Amino acid sequence: MSSAPIFQIQSILILSLMILGVYLRRMRKTHVKIMSTVIIWDLLLILQIEFTRSAILKASKVMTNPTMLKIHLFFAIGSVILYILMVLSGRKLLSGDISVRPRHKKLGWTTLIFRIMTLVTSYWAVAK
Ligand code: HEM
Repeated sequence: MSSAPIFQIQSILILSLMILGVYLRRMRKTHVKIMSTVIIWDLLLILQIEFTRSAILKASKVMTNPTMLKIHLFFAIGSVILYILMVLSGRKLLSGDISVRPRHKKLGWTTLIFRIMTLVTSYWAVAK
């Protein structure tokens, strides 16, 4: 059986958790806990996909259009870079430096959009 649906389900759960984390952004402790879980889980998902890549290649008709692959990778890699910026600006906020708040806010919404686009474009990777 293809492992793609297991990845897709995890991806949907991670995105749902991120939306919950953004919704609860005013509850500092909860927000930080949820977002840390989201980031760690998403990185673990990338590792899972990486380790079973040959299995996916065999089991599914992997995207043949390189432009679509590039667009998917743009959002996926962009999300990881944004995660680093979110952790850095989030830690600054926690340490009391509220000057980074507008930056964390802007990057936060950008991260959410990038993660939604990663999920949407991931269907290109498994669709025939
Ligand atoms: C994908 C990850 C994240 C997203 C999308 C996100 C998004 C947001 C958003 C939209 C806000 C509201 C900003 C405002 O309206 O002024 C916020 C606030 C905040 N975030 Fe994040 N965040 C993320 C990760 C983190 C992390 C990892 C930390 C800590 C290490 C963190 C710490 C905070 C803090 C302390 C606040 C202020 C909460 C308050 O007291 O109102 N965030 N975040």
